[in-house]
Amino acid sequence: MSGGALTAVSDLHVSYAENRAVLEGLRPRSPEDWLLVAGDVGERPADIEWALGLLAQRYAQVVWVPGNHELWTTGEDPVRLRGEARYRHLVEICRRLGVRTPEDPYPQWDGPDGPVTVVPLFVGYDYSFLTPGTTTQEQSLQAAHAAGIVCTDEYYLHPDPYSSREEWCAARVAYSQQRLAECDPTRPTVLVNHYPLVREPTRILRYPEFAQWCGTVRTADWHRRYRAAAVVYGHLHIPKTSWHDGVRFEEVSLGYPREWHPRGGTPNPVRTILPAP
Ligand SMILES: [Fe+2]
Ligand SMILES: [Fe+2]
Repeated sequence: MSGGALTAVSDLHVSYAENRAVLEGLRPRSPEDWLLVAGDVGERPADIEWALGLLAQRYAQVVWVPGNHELWTTGEDPVRLRGEARYRHLVEICRRLGVRTPEDPYPQWDGPDGPVTVVPLFVGYDYSFLTPGTTTQEQSLQAAHAAGIVCTDEYYLHPDPYSSREEWCAARVAYSQQRLAECDPTRPTVLVNHYPLVREPTRILRYPEFAQWCGTVRTADWHRRYRAAAVVYGHLHIPKTSWHDGVRFEEVSLGYPREWHPRGGTPNPVRTILPAP
């Protein structure tokens, strides 16, 4: 049994110097602690490698899933890879660092209540969290443009070789379901994804049009179907614990300095997932 804890964080956004300082201050409470990193470490592979490398030196096991920012191909980045090729490049970096990804065997964490399967997921979004009042993807996107709330992914997150982000998402849903079906059916899971697997947490977004870039209806029952002891996600930059069908969902983001400054002091965004607090 692990004497440590299963802990989690997301949205470290290390392109900001203040966030790099927060990351440099992160320490496990026990050398046996694991850290789940639920995406948006940064945009540039060099930054991501630095951040995950530092965490991998400190935590017994680091598990990473990509956020949308990792998948951006921006003008200033010497790495010109797009879409799937960019994701695979990051997976290779993680493997060099000993960090687990959605492409590796799912690690088992041995807690006081028995072993759990830790499931890093890269599922994406498919615009199915429609803007309230609209009934099609086209209308939903139009409403976002009209409101001036359009996610930067539309310009930087390329789905190559897929024809669209939603087609990439569909492929990732199919891959993830196949992997989940192969898991020990007697064992609980901890599901880790950049986006919430259910829509409810997006209802508190200031701009409801943004929800279409925050997940997919295809994962709505995964926490029940795949025996989740807890679900870990980020992306919303609204740190929060909520319960859905009796399952604990943890939004574990740090977010941008302008978001955490008002909360005061130096943030400690790392949250204990198991043993259950
Ligand atoms: Fe983020
Ligand atoms: Fe994000």
